[in-house]
Amino acid sequence: MKKLLIIAAMLLVAAAAGAQGLTPVKLNEPNKDRGASVMKALNDRHSTREFSTEKLSLQDLSDLLWAANGINRPDGRRTAATARNNQDIDVYAIMEEGAYFYDAKKNELTPVAEGDYRALIADRQASVLDAPVSLLVVSDVLRFTGLDAEMQKQWGALDAGIVSQNIMIFASGCGLVTVPRVYMNSEEIKKVLNLTETQIPMINNPVGYRR
Ligand SMILES: Cc1cc2nc3c(=O)[nH]c(=O)nc-3n(C[C@H](O)[C@H](O)[C@H](O)COP(=O)(O)O)c2cc1C
Repeated sequence: MKKLLIIAAMLLVAAAAGAQGLTPVKLNEPNKDRGASVMKALNDRHSTREFSTEKLSLQDLSDLLWAANGINRPDGRRTAATARNNQDIDVYAIMEEGAYFYDAKKNELTPVAEGDYRALIADRQASVLDAPVSLLVVSDVLRFTGLDAEMQKQWGALDAGIVSQNIMIFASGCGLVTVPRVYMNSEEIKKVLNLTETQIPMINNPVGYRR
């Protein structure tokens, strides 16, 4: 417990330093011709909690993010549906060098905080620490206007689940492994990413190559 508190304090000090040392990661165009058939990807989908520490190639990272919540139509709509097309979902990539916001319009990862925050995602589930990237799915429930707080949270959770499923099917069909997870240190993650009260970390998917 004491050790965890010390790690959390160190992470917060690092977060206070911001993202100065990081530069945006320009992503590749998604390769839309890869992968197994949808039926095979569904057949092979399963949760994996052990990962190789090998970093994802830029193409795999680019394709993963596009599959998760990229833009797939000229009007800006996404690979993942959202209730009323309110587009409440933001995806963050938490990697060894830092935490990044996935900017689907620019097709790039925008630095948010320098440092390795994967421990905040793993929380007490140490085995997922090896994954080179964890995708954090955040719903900004403020984008649901005219709903009470309970409904906002419910719709946000549903939209987040769809993004997580996109990640799982992509991983299954394209040679990666993942697990959907609700456990994480949400309070500290919110501080590191500078999230507002209405931006709720809903689910995370550590992703990597099979160990
Ligand atoms: C909403 C949701 C939250 C989950 N949270 C966790 C988690 O925090 N940690 C974990 O190891 N697995 C988590 N899982 C994975 C489930 O344990 C897993 O999907 C289930 O055991 C079925 O196995 P399968 O995914 O291989 O079919 C979660 C799954 C879902 C759908």
